[in-house]
This record gives sequence, structure tokens and C-alpha cells, in this order.
Amino acid sequence: MDRIRIIGGNKLNGTIPISGAKNAALPLMIAALLTDETLILENVPRLADVALLQRILGNHGVDIMSAGKRPGDREHQGQTLHISAANIIDTTAPYDLVSKMRASFWVIGPLLARMKEAKVSLPGGCAIGTRPVDLLIMALEKLGAEIVIDGGYAVARAPQGLHGATIDFPKVTVSGTHVALMAATLAAGTTVITNAACEPEITDVADCLNKMGAKVTGAGTPRIVIEGVAKLHGARHAVLPDRIETGTYAMAVAMTGGDVQLQGARPELLQSALDVLTQAGVTITQNNEGIRVQRNGAGIRPVEVSTAPFPGFPTDLQAQLMALMTRAEGASHITETIFENRFMHVQELARFGARITLDGETATIEGRPTLRGAPVMATDLRASVSLVIAALAAEGETMVNRIYHLDRGFERLEDKLSACGATIERISG
Ligand code: EPZ
Repeated sequence: MDRIRIIGGNKLNGTIPISGAKNAALPLMIAALLTDETLILENVPRLADVALLQRILGNHGVDIMSAGKRPGDREHQGQTLHISAANIIDTTAPYDLVSKMRASFWVIGPLLARMKEAKVSLPGGCAIGTRPVDLLIMALEKLGAEIVIDGGYAVARAPQGLHGATIDFPKVTVSGTHVALMAATLAAGTTVITNAACEPEITDVADCLNKMGAKVTGAGTPRIVIEGVAKLHGARHAVLPDRIETGTYAMAVAMTGGDVQLQGARPELLQSALDVLTQAGVTITQNNEGIRVQRNGAGIRPVEVSTAPFPGFPTDLQAQLMALMTRAEGASHITETIFENRFMHVQELARFGARITLDGETATIEGRPTLRGAPVMATDLRASVSLVIAALAAEGETMVNRIYHLDRGFERLEDKLSACGATIERISG
């Protein structure tokens, strides 16, 4: 199993290109199931989760062609995928595939809308919480689906096709909003989603669906209206930049000090996180190329932060902020409100000498002037990268184990960091 070795203490200086967003690329690829024409997606990050979803879609009979590099393409541009679901040969998503990646459960929406049936394994729990799918099922039932749970599978049918409905989510859910939105594009009549998730990835998917001929308005607000159409067609769409990758590198620079340009980043996608970094004493400036992050000399000021749905502080940056606050000049408080068990990194950060105590959903972090490198491992993607951030500033060597988590969501992490002066290498085997 690959590991990453880091010798901490170097400042980061240079440019980091920001990749396409994993959490937009995955639902966009799934949206290709809604049409028998080709969906061309540009700026798709080269990630293990994308490769796994290609396999899962392949199981349904979807053809995916990855275009080669063309003259003039920038060196590290994301890939272009040509996705054709002309012939869906199987409407079952089996346990062994869905259990590897929760988002693959979302195929239930497009399959049901287009094929009138789907049998999709329930994804089960994961390291960050129980993560049920009850709200996804509720939304599809409102749209007219009959769903039973049988042998660990959600077996869904809509023999007459789906129909428009009002879907009022009792809590904000990204997965529920994606699935309801995709399914409603082909439902007969009008669907109104209230208390919808406002995350930029929802807006990106809605933009793509509209290019495919859907009639979606209000994406990015809590009220989305979808006028169903009989058929969607092919389109070309570029995945938006990854706001979580952007925030992660911004926190890495805040941690080590230095001056880094985050190329292609869009500040409006993570304003709440940039505001927190500014409060912590980091200089953030926007320019034509993206976002510039600088911390020179000044210490890190402690902060009080609660995670919240967009536009609030993202849960997917909570672990990274905690790593940063281990070196703040005072005590910080970070409250996790989205997932009940998303503190797995606390034990591992303690191995660097961090002082963190947990009280329910709130962590208190007593900042310390120095961390020391250690062997560490983590159980989810964002927790893993928080350990990398700690290691970049820790004295001595850190070995991060189980880095397959990192490969799920960070494209060329070690290349991007080493190009800015970090001592970081991947050790194979
Ligand atoms: C998405 O997960 C992201 N995943 C997560 O990123 C992210 O942390 C999360 O949204 C919140 O922003 C992808 O986009 C692929 P939810 P999702 O539905 O859609 C509860 C990462 O590291 N809930 O908004 O699964 C749920 O348990 C990942 O990239 C129900 O109770 O999140 C949670 O407490 C991790 N019933 C809350 O809602 C349901 O049916 C929000 O979940 C669905 C969700």
C-alpha cells in the first residue's frame, strides 16, 4: 500500500493549479444516464473516485471515452470524458460497487426517470457517520416511484413514469437535492424542491442539465423549480473548480507560511472559509488568475467556527482547519453540525503533539508553537489531508499511511505541494 513521506518545516511558495471539483464531476457523470446522446465533460479530475464511477457506469452499459491531450492543452489540464448511455443494459447497481463509493447510489434517480426501474444496493454507513438515504427515497416516492428494500437493495419502479411533485426536505441534503433534481428533469409536470441544498456543485449540475435541454430554475437557492421534459440530449460542460481543494491548499499555506497563487480558484465558491482564514491572520487576495494566499511572519490567530450547509463553512474543510488551529496562538473551537462522527482525525492529530479535546460535537484546540512528525493514518479523505497539513509544519518526518483515501479526492497532491517547496514523496508498495 502506498504511503506519503513528508519532512516538515518548509514554507510553500509558488503556484498550485486547482482541479475540477470531485463532488461536481461525480453527479455530472451520473447525469449522463438521463440521455441516449453523448455528454462531454471537460476538466474532470483524474481521481480514484472518478475511475471507480466509470466502472460503475460501465456496468450499466455506459461507454466512456477519455479524450487524449490536444495541442495547446495546458500540462495538467483535467481530462475530457465523452459519456454515452445510448444503451442501458442493466438497471442494477450491485453491492460490491456501491459499497466502495456512496455517491454511486445516486444512479437510482436517473435510472428510474429514464428506465422506469432501478435496483441499487444501499450504501451502508461510513467512517464519518451513518449517512442514511431515507430522504433520497422520500424524494423519489414523492415523484411517484414505488420503492421497497429487499435483500439490502432499494428496488424502485415507476411503471407509468415519474410525475412532478413538491419535495420539501426536512434537512438540507446535497445527495437528496442531486437525486431529486436529476429525476425531476424527466418527470411529467412541475417539481418544486424546497429547503434545497445551495452548494455550488448543485448549481453546476443544474447548469449542465439545462444545456442538455432540462428546464431548471432556482439552483443555488433553497427553492428549485423543474419543468419536466420528455427527453434530454447531449451537451458539453466543463466541471467547476474544486472549492475544497482550494480551501485545503489555502490552509496548507496558512500553516507553513509563504505565498501561493491558487490558479483557477473562484473565491465566491468558498467565501466563508476565506473569511475564517482572514480572521486567522492570513492575507487573501483575488486576482484575474485565481486566489493568492500569503502568511509571512504573523502568527495564526484562533477562531470559532461551526460547519454549515453552503454558504456556511463546509464540513469538508473542518479537519483541515483543525490541523491549522493546532498551531494557533490560543484556543479555538470548531463545531461539526453536518456529520455526527467526523472527528476521526483528532486522535491522529494528537500524534503530532496537538492538544484537542472533544465535547459532543465541539472540539477545543489548544494551539501550540510546534508539532512533531509521526507515523499517522486516517479513515477518510478530508481527515487524511488534514494530517498532510499538520506534517508540512511539523518538525521532522511524518509517514502518512493508507493514502488511497487521498487519491480518491486530491489530484497529484504530492506533485502540487512539492512544486511549491514541500519535501513530500510517495513511497510505493
Ligand atoms: C455530500 O455528501 C458530499 N459528497 C460530501 O463530501 C459532503 O461532506 C456533504 O455533501 C456535505 O456537504 C459528495 O458530493 C459526493 P448530505 P452527501 O446528503 O450528499 C443526512 C467528501 O469528503 N442525510 O448533504 O452524502 C446525512 O447523514 C464528501 O468529499 C440524511 O439524514 O451529504 C448528513 O448528516 C464526504 N438522510 C446530512 O444529511 C438522507 O437521506 C447531509 O448529508 C441523506 C442525508
